[in-house]
Amino acid sequence: MVYLISDANWWRQAVIYQIYPRSFADANGDGIGDLKGITSRVPYLKALGVDAVWMSPFYPSALKDGGYDVADYRDIDPKIGTLEDFDEMSAALKAAGIKVMVDIVPNHSSDDHEWFQAALKAGKGSAERERYIFRDGLGPNKDQAPTDWICTFGGPAWSPSGVDDGQWYFHWFDSSQPDFNWEHPDVKADFLKTLRFWGDRGVSGFRIDVAHGLTKDMKEPLPDWKELSDMTTRKLTSGNAGLDHPLYDRDEVHDIYRSWRKLFNQYNPPLMAVAEAWVAPDRKGLYASSDGLGQAFSFDILLCNFDADEYRECIDRSLEASKESKSSTTWVLSNHDVMRHASRFGLPNVPNANLPVSQIALNQFLLDKFQVQKVDIESGLKRARAATLMILALPGSTYIYQGEELGLQEVVEINEEERQDPIFRRTEGKDVGRDGCRVPIPWVANERNFGYGLGKPAHLPQPDWMAQYAVDVEEKDSNSTLSTYRRAIQLRKKLQTSEDLEWVDNSNKDVLHFRRPNGWEILVNTGRAEVDMPASSKVLISSSGSTLEGNKVPGETTVWFQGA
Ligand code: NOJ
Ligand code: CA
Repeated sequence: MVYLISDANWWRQAVIYQIYPRSFADANGDGIGDLKGITSRVPYLKALGVDAVWMSPFYPSALKDGGYDVADYRDIDPKIGTLEDFDEMSAALKAAGIKVMVDIVPNHSSDDHEWFQAALKAGKGSAERERYIFRDGLGPNKDQAPTDWICTFGGPAWSPSGVDDGQWYFHWFDSSQPDFNWEHPDVKADFLKTLRFWGDRGVSGFRIDVAHGLTKDMKEPLPDWKELSDMTTRKLTSGNAGLDHPLYDRDEVHDIYRSWRKLFNQYNPPLMAVAEAWVAPDRKGLYASSDGLGQAFSFDILLCNFDADEYRECIDRSLEASKESKSSTTWVLSNHDVMRHASRFGLPNVPNANLPVSQIALNQFLLDKFQVQKVDIESGLKRARAATLMILALPGSTYIYQGEELGLQEVVEINEEERQDPIFRRTEGKDVGRDGCRVPIPWVANERNFGYGLGKPAHLPQPDWMAQYAVDVEEKDSNSTLSTYRRAIQLRKKLQTSEDLEWVDNSNKDVLHFRRPNGWEILVNTGRAEVDMPASSKVLISSSGSTLEGNKVPGETTVWFQGA
């Protein structure tokens, strides 16, 4: 399909850079990354060549879940900056040709949100409590949770109101993150107001957190835990086949997104949105539809081993699904919820069927392996770069997570008392959580805090080995991971003029070979042995260095070339 890159579909094949604000750059030296820090690094983002940044939450927050516990959706956390700082940052990004996407967290607020505080105060049966999900506890003293449900971060999904009235509130994540009641008109109206607030401030789009979770069926009797389905397959864990999941992926959620789309389309170009939706493959298109959010994250490639067959199957499936929904697909190898892919690929492959299907579960699964298995750092980085060059050559949008362009490894050396992820606390340390991919990134090898901030130490500890991945080090090396990302993103901009992809037969089971527009060809070698380059081809870029010896593609390498 040939399409015109109009303003309205800028996102279809964009490269979007995820900024985790408190770990990006700390301008005022208090140890927490801030908006002025981001503004100071706009030249870096411009040199990388990204089309947009997606900013993880920067709203007022007690940071009990890294900012996904929002106390006020229309303001900036004073620890991070002010609305003026936001405008200044947006203007600098705009001048550099970079769009801004912000993270909307509509499933739950922080327990510090004024509505939740008002609900606690107003008491049982009050109108204020209706905006959240309160229920009476079980038992004569109402001191047992209304159901046995377990929250995503471990431990019970209900917590007592704390005001001694026998009531409990539902939270699918941490107890500091009470879920909204999306049947309530105030909730609906307030999120429209929030979307308009940021739209009017000039943002180009939104990433929607837990997009599949907003609407819930809380009619009594509530089912037991064992009757709940697996959200990613819609298969029941046991019993009661045919039961809709009361918490996830309910059809009514799309009424909300249709109302949001009407608002998005009042802007020129229309605002875009990408859903974080953990749903069965055949349900994803509903989130990506053009009368809904427009795009949905696919984490399928992230859940693949570094393996040609798995990749081919995943690519075909993803492109087919996006064709059906008339959206474009997304490619994600790293984000703030999962082990950095340079480390992940340093672990031995796992039979695909044994891999957990959610990111949070995958993260822990990998971290557990990390304890007992030797990580091959060299191979992990080679594979990471090869996988990145593969996804950058695929039709669709590529989402890059800050630091992956440096080839950063996961930080595992974090002491218990330094851990921040609520998962650590809620599982009593059994699962260490996601702090290891959220450590502030290194900018200058020989500066305090590696140039992240020149004052207090970073809020999560930066190990010494980070120096070798610092931006200033990698900028000087034309074969570094950073230089490779920069070159690849620039090249992709020139080469990608359609969304077509054609497979080229190759008898080697470790090789993927595909063709894109304008004679652009891509060969991915997932094996360890070198393979031949097709005859008379001109190499454009290689993931393992600029020159290839003797027309051979080394193991664990992706090469882009101009076909004969
Ligand atoms: C998904 C976000 O990516 C994750 O970081 C967060 O903890 C949960 N949603 C809850 O908001
Ligand atoms: Ca700061």
